[in-house]
Amino acid sequence: MENIYEAAFVKEMEKTTANMYRLGWDERNGGNISYRLDEQDVQKYLDTDRVIRTIPLGFDAEELAGCYFIVTGTGKYFKNVTEDPANNLGLFRISKSGKDAELLWGYEDGGRFTSELPAHLMSHIARMKADPENRVVMHSHPTNTLAMTYVHPLDDKSFTHTLWTMSTECIVVFPEGLGVLPWMLCGTNSIGEATAAKMNDHRLVVWAMHGIYGAGKSLDETFGLIETVEKAAQIYMLTAGLPQVNTITDENLVELAEYFKVDYRKDYLG
Ligand code: 13P
Ligand code: ZN
Repeated sequence: MENIYEAAFVKEMEKTTANMYRLGWDERNGGNISYRLDEQDVQKYLDTDRVIRTIPLGFDAEELAGCYFIVTGTGKYFKNVTEDPANNLGLFRISKSGKDAELLWGYEDGGRFTSELPAHLMSHIARMKADPENRVVMHSHPTNTLAMTYVHPLDDKSFTHTLWTMSTECIVVFPEGLGVLPWMLCGTNSIGEATAAKMNDHRLVVWAMHGIYGAGKSLDETFGLIETVEKAAQIYMLTAGLPQVNTITDENLVELAEYFKVDYRKDYLG
């Protein structure tokens, strides 16, 4: 067996959580990440027949039975992941019944997966239908994105359109736009279902007055999606309330989308 502390997926989780903390997106225990792994990759580091603990999921994840995930722990601080990955992360398999997580490594102090696991796993199910290569679901509290939800209408179309006009690259990076949810109680199956419903046709979902969810093929891609939204939200917050004398027009947006050949949400224009 190889040393799991040297595994690329552990190193990537350390690097990503450290970057998210560095950017001020994940205060205290804010934020959580789930990363789907291949069995062969896990078996290089762990005996997959050796289940340490079985933790009930509290919802039905049968569609993910047999899938492996590395997931941040509930109540754990992103700033501490690099110095102590085995306490702050856990690696588990979804049981055959889809009702339990079979812990294979991590959560060493008796901890458990993030309280937002329903939103994560339901989003994985939705995104894997749209793109079987999807591996990552990431939740975070980026400052400007959150601030924007206090001062901007909360519908998918106008929120997306405003962000597209805040930076030239936005329509190219997230041509399908963002889904926006109103304030909802977090950590529940209900917010998980609402998030997953938006994930059917978006890789980004904003939780008003709370944060954002991103989904993608890799940690880097997903981080980049959220980073691009947060930058655009920052431009919005820096310019909100000032007389706006210039903008990116719908004609400019169409020109960008056509030049970069992206399949954008045409109904989010106008
Ligand atoms: P966890 O500590 O359970 O991951 O929760 C953090 C969070 O961001 C809740 O939305
Ligand atoms: Zn949160």
